[in-house]
Amino acid sequence: MAPLQVLAIFFTSLIFMQIYLGNAQTFIHSKAAYYPNSEEKGTETGACGFGTFGATINGGDVSAASDLYRDGLGCGACYQVRCTNSNYCSDNGVTIVITDHGASGGTDFILSQRAFGRMAQTKDAAASLLSLGNVDIEYRRVSCSYPSKNITIKIDESSDNPYYLAFVIWYQQGKTDITAVQLCETQNFVCKLLDRTRGAVWTSSSPPRGPLQIRMLLSTDDGDETWIVPVNNIPENWKAGETYDSGIQVD
Ligand SMILES: *[C@@H]1O[C@H](CO)[C@@H](O)[C@H](O)[C@H]1NC(C)=O
Repeated sequence: MAPLQVLAIFFTSLIFMQIYLGNAQTFIHSKAAYYPNSEEKGTETGACGFGTFGATINGGDVSAASDLYRDGLGCGACYQVRCTNSNYCSDNGVTIVITDHGASGGTDFILSQRAFGRMAQTKDAAASLLSLGNVDIEYRRVSCSYPSKNITIKIDESSDNPYYLAFVIWYQQGKTDITAVQLCETQNFVCKLLDRTRGAVWTSSSPPRGPLQIRMLLSTDDGDETWIVPVNNIPENWKAGETYDSGIQVD
């Protein structure tokens, strides 16, 4: 072969390798279990502090995570989880949302019963899988998808207007982490950084008066960071337990 041809083949394979590596994030081997005495879906009292979102989001295909919980930063992240026993398990497995913290016998995930069963090929296979309890799996992080939902601020029940504000962020699509949050008053847009005090719960013990703007810093695995600014403010008369549509969504 002429040197030029060799060079051409070399560069073409380089390009193909890059396309391949760019798209196919590799699966990581681990174990998954489920809470045998739990409800079919997840828990409303999960460590993330998500409330009902933590139990019923994604149809109840949710999970507790051990290391992937990342001290609460991992709350809301989505993973494709598939078991590896070819007698029972489907190729695609299930996509789950992290809403709780927990580990059991070397697992990365404690799935809801529903999500655990959905890794199986059939209903019968699901029964067999559930009887095993703790199974070998592979997982990878994937984008979350909430069609027809905007990012939504849920004011935590512990809040007390105007003295104490605590909230969680529901329906964040994509594959980024919310690594910082700024709370801004809406006259001069003076902002302060908030702390995540437990799970995914951001808090302020002296929130500004008036309507509030909640800005979020989204960070990728590669360290790219972007501040996003909601279209809608939180109204001055915000209430514990209420949800407020931010008017924006991300991918
Ligand atoms: C999302 O926000 C936009 C405004 O930015 C609004 O028009 C739309 O209705 C919202 N979507 C939902 C599902 O609430």
